[in-house]
Amino acid sequence: MSERIYNFSAGPGVLPEPVLKQAQKDLWNLGGSGIGVLEHSHRGKAIDKVWAEAEADCREVGSIPDTHKVLWLTGGASQQFWQIPMNFLRKGETADYINTGVWATKAIQDAKLFGTVHLAATSEDRNFCYIPKQDAIKHSASPRYVHYTSNNTIFGTEWKSEPRVPAGAPLIGDNSSDIYSKPIDFSRYALMYAGAQKNLGAAGVTLVVARKDFLETGARDLPPLLQYRTFANEDNRPNTPPVFAVYLVGQVLKWIKSEGGVAAMAERNQAKARLIYDYLDASSLFRPFADKDSRSLMNITFRTPNEDTNAKFIKEAAAAGLDGLKAHRSTGGMRASIYNAFPIDGCRALVQFMEKFEKANR
Ligand SMILES: Cc1ncc(COP(=O)(O)O)c(C=O)c1O
Repeated sequence: MSERIYNFSAGPGVLPEPVLKQAQKDLWNLGGSGIGVLEHSHRGKAIDKVWAEAEADCREVGSIPDTHKVLWLTGGASQQFWQIPMNFLRKGETADYINTGVWATKAIQDAKLFGTVHLAATSEDRNFCYIPKQDAIKHSASPRYVHYTSNNTIFGTEWKSEPRVPAGAPLIGDNSSDIYSKPIDFSRYALMYAGAQKNLGAAGVTLVVARKDFLETGARDLPPLLQYRTFANEDNRPNTPPVFAVYLVGQVLKWIKSEGGVAAMAERNQAKARLIYDYLDASSLFRPFADKDSRSLMNITFRTPNEDTNAKFIKEAAAAGLDGLKAHRSTGGMRASIYNAFPIDGCRALVQFMEKFEKANR
């Protein structure tokens, strides 16, 4: 029997088992070099290979066009909340933000330190349980860029396609919690960022995919390590980078390829989420939090009508080997995060447990 249990954590989240096993080997001895991946110089040949493969696989898996750079940055997705306006928003300029939750709100707060924020749309009126309709988005006259959050990890809502932007306006996406869970058209983005610790690997690195000409419009009066172009021009190694975190992303990308790529991930993620949503829709105890047309395939938020029952469910589920189901305080209740690496058997196990719990707690 495996000693591992089902991990519904919102992030850091579950990683593919073959990746963990390969990482164990490579920690000891990377590719027969006699030196572990953590111990190699970041400018040596062994890491050159890790670097080249991670970027090539990232491009291949995401069909990233040559117009875009792949950057490995640090500071988490939260650093992008301020690094983006610091580079691209000047006093007197306006950026449009769409507020669909806690992370988007934080991005807005940081942007206000640098320029003017126009709130193009928000779903705050109903505690962020939905994604605004395209025709509810009202842009400013000529936004410096438009920022949105593709999947709202805390509320369990997800855009089905990118928001429309005015002609020529750069689109910026925080795709931290649904990156590579489905195909993504990078040509629509001026800049896309994603912390790695959900669908891509471990905490410590943030993937940024950005159009080269957009990066060139960034501020030059900043310390070099705060400018995107420094990383773009110096092969993501202007200083000592988080080698192990990038190595792990590389391994996860190889796993995605071996499983059939992002199209296969999307199919699998739909099937996994459907199992749980179908049960929730039929249940007389549990209620889904998000509106039907806005539901996330990555983070499924739900609750019972009463907090004591929620707490009991979370406790009993954990005892049954279903861990990490407590939701963020903003929604209360439960959240099942079922990223790419989360197995469909775990979704079945959750549904079976909910059935049993519902019978016992009617
Ligand atoms: C959508 C989204 N954006 C940003 C963040 C913040 O990421 P980090 O902790 O890497 O700064 C998170 C974290 O869960 C997130 O889900």
